This record gives sequence, structure tokens and C-alpha cells, in this order.
Amino acid sequence: MTATSSRSYHSPDGLERAVIDLVRVGARGHGGGVKQLASRLMRSVPTGVQDVESFRDALHAAVAAALDATELRYASGSVPTEGDSARPLVDIDPMPDGEGLVLDGQAMAALGEVLMERDRAEDLRRAGAGPSRTVLLSGPPGVGKTMAARWLAQSLRLPLLSLDLSSVVSSYLGTSGRNIKSVLDYAKSGPCVLLLDEFDAIAKRRDDDSDIGELKRIVNVILVELDRWPDTSLLVAATNHPHLLDTAVERRFDRSITFSLPAREQRRTILDHLSTGVDPIDAAVLDLAVELTEGVSSSDLTRVWSLVHRRSILNGSTITAELVKELGRHIRDSGSSRDRLFLTMRDTLGMSNRQIAALVGVSHPTVAAGVKRAEGVLDGKHTDRRSSAAPASRQWGSA
Ligand SMILES: Nc1ncnc2c1ncn2[C@@H]1O[C@H](COP(=O)(O)OP(=O)(O)OP(=O)(O)O)[C@@H](O)[C@H]1O
Ligand SMILES: [Mg+2]
Repeated sequence: MTATSSRSYHSPDGLERAVIDLVRVGARGHGGGVKQLASRLMRSVPTGVQDVESFRDALHAAVAAALDATELRYASGSVPTEGDSARPLVDIDPMPDGEGLVLDGQAMAALGEVLMERDRAEDLRRAGAGPSRTVLLSGPPGVGKTMAARWLAQSLRLPLLSLDLSSVVSSYLGTSGRNIKSVLDYAKSGPCVLLLDEFDAIAKRRDDDSDIGELKRIVNVILVELDRWPDTSLLVAATNHPHLLDTAVERRFDRSITFSLPAREQRRTILDHLSTGVDPIDAAVLDLAVELTEGVSSSDLTRVWSLVHRRSILNGSTITAELVKELGRHIRDSGSSRDRLFLTMRDTLGMSNRQIAALVGVSHPTVAAGVKRAEGVLDGKHTDRRSSAAPASRQWGSA
């Protein structure tokens, strides 16, 4: 019996209470408790649920899908640990969250195909094909490779096992080969998504003579495993440096997906997501932010957002104001976007030319000239939406 059994969900706030109880039991990692609570909710549907039948069906499907994951997490053998210590070699996330992943059409379609293959795995097997078992994700830092592994696991309703190869290779050298083998064996013991993060770590140290023997062992272990990986689990490897990988290693993957820095459209979507549910942002400022963040990674964009959000709370100001200031601090170009930013700072934030100049690091006549040009463009109703922004600083969010 769970600690929640004495509570009734037949009250006006029944639904909220049920959600909170589920989260509380789930947060303790108590798989049995979650299932128990779910069965109770199926038997006695909380007040506030609109469509009782679909609610029951959805709960039932969720519990059924979790059975495999629970089995892996709680029943099938213990999590491999480092030597005699209790330190687990692999991080296990039973309920991964990749919500809000934004990628270009090609990368998203490729990930969608991986899911579709899993969905129709039986059809593929019958035809002698089978779904993709191993996927290599490559791209610059902060574009969502790790997040995509979470997204895949969440979409497949599987637990995510993550192994950071760079830390395994550097801290456990000597026993790395054995450690990696035990994690791979564990991952194969039940359906899951296994993320081998910083995958290039196994290639990077190739030039380091002292490690060469151990490294060869590790590469061999992984090559063998890639070839015979079962299609019940999905192996995802992520790297920032695909060029460091042996072509023999890269060719072993069923699929290779390349992620790029977010283009204007993706930056817009990420900022739209982030600004949902907070105080409304000035639309013109959001446009400027999209334009002026060319070359900025999705991760840095998210960090900048968190930074300006926190500042707006601490300073009692608006996110719009803090965002404009942050854009001002980082702007590197001298084109029409900067002129519009000057104009916005003056009109929306009421800043003087001198204040703007101090923030951006230019002279105040430069600001005055920029404001004039921007006003001229607006007066002439010639709205130049093209960005002349040079790639912005990569230091976003670090201030
Ligand atoms: N494509 C994306 N869509 C939405 N948010 C993203 C995206 N990429 C990164 N982020 C945000 O940045 C955070 C860090 O991203 P993530 O760790 O997935 O990047 P990465 O490509 O694995 O980087 P690294 O190469 O440094 O490991 C995410 O948790 C998320 O908040
Ligand atoms: Mg990563």
C-alpha cells in the first residue's frame, strides 16, 4: 500500500492531487508504487477528467509500456559498478525527458524514421530487415545530441542509460575495456536506449602511446558490440568530432545523423518555446534576438534565456529589457540589425544615446547615427529584415 492510499481523488482538486501523488512516488524511483497508484486511478478516475474511457486507456498503455523498463531497472541483475565500489558505471534515467527538442527538418526526419522503424519493427523483421540498432549523432557542442538521446528514449518509452566515454577512458584506464563491456552487457539485458556520450574519446587518445594497448581493447570491444547489438535496444553514440573517428568505427553504425547549429527558423522556435508561459516579450525584440544570434548554439541560446529571465526577476525588470541589454552587450556587427537594436533600446527601454553607447561599447555619435538610419528605414516603410550580423560571439550566456 502506498502512502497515498488514504487520499481521495473525488474532490474538486482530485486531478491535481493525483498528479502530485504520482510525481511524488515516481520521484522516489518507486516503480511498484507508481503502478499501484496508476491502477487505483484506473479503478477510480479522479474528478476533473473529461473523457474517462480515454483516460483509462492512456493510463493502461503507459503502465504496459513501462513494464520492460521497470524490469531492466529493478529486476534484471544489478547495475554494474566500478570494481568493488558502489559507484555505478552507468547513469540510469528511468523517465528521460527530451521535451522541446528543435532540429532542422533533415535531422528531425531522420530521428522520426528511427522511431517509425521501432514502431513497425515486426514488419521489418518479417521482411528480413529489422530496425536500426545503432545511431551515431554528430555535430558541434550544444546542438542537442544528448537531448536527442533523451528524446528518443522518451518517445520509445524506454529508460536511458548514459555512459560518458571520456570519463570512463580517462579515469578508469586499465579497467576501461572490462567496464565498458559490463555496461554494454547490462544494456543488452533489457530494452533501453544506451547513450555512449563523447564517443570520440575512444579515438582521441590514439596518439597517446602509453594508452594504446588499453585503447585498442576498448575500440575492439565496441566494434564487436556494434556489429552484434540486439535490435531490442537502441545504441546511440554522440560526438563533437566525427572526423576523429576511425572510418571503420563510423561505418559500423546503422545510421549517422548530423546536427547543425540552429538556423534562424530553429532559433525562432526555441525562443518561442522558452517564452511560452512567461510575461509577453515585445515581438520586435524577439525578431531581433532571432537575427542577432546567428552562429549561437541552441544550448547557449537556452542559457542566455535563463540568464535574462533570472536577471528580470532579480532586477524587477522585464525579460524584454534584459534581453535587449544582453543583445547589446554581445552585438558584433554594425549593420541594420544593430541600428534597429539601438532604436529599440531608445524607444522601448527609454535609454539615452550615452547609456546605449556605454552598454554596447561604441561612441554616442555612432549610436545617434544608427538610430537615425533605423528611423529613416522605418519612415521609408522599407523594412529591411535581412540580417547583416556576423557570427555572434560564442561566449553567450557566460557573462
Ligand atoms: N536542438 C535543441 N533544441 C532545444 N534545446 C536544445 C537543443 N540543443 C540544446 N538545447 C538545450 O541545451 C542543453 C544542452 O544541450 P545538449 O547537451 O543536448 O547538447 P550536445 O549537443 O549534447 O552538446 P555537447 O556536444 O556539448 O555534449 C539542452 O538540455 C537544452 O536545454
Ligand atoms: Mg552532449
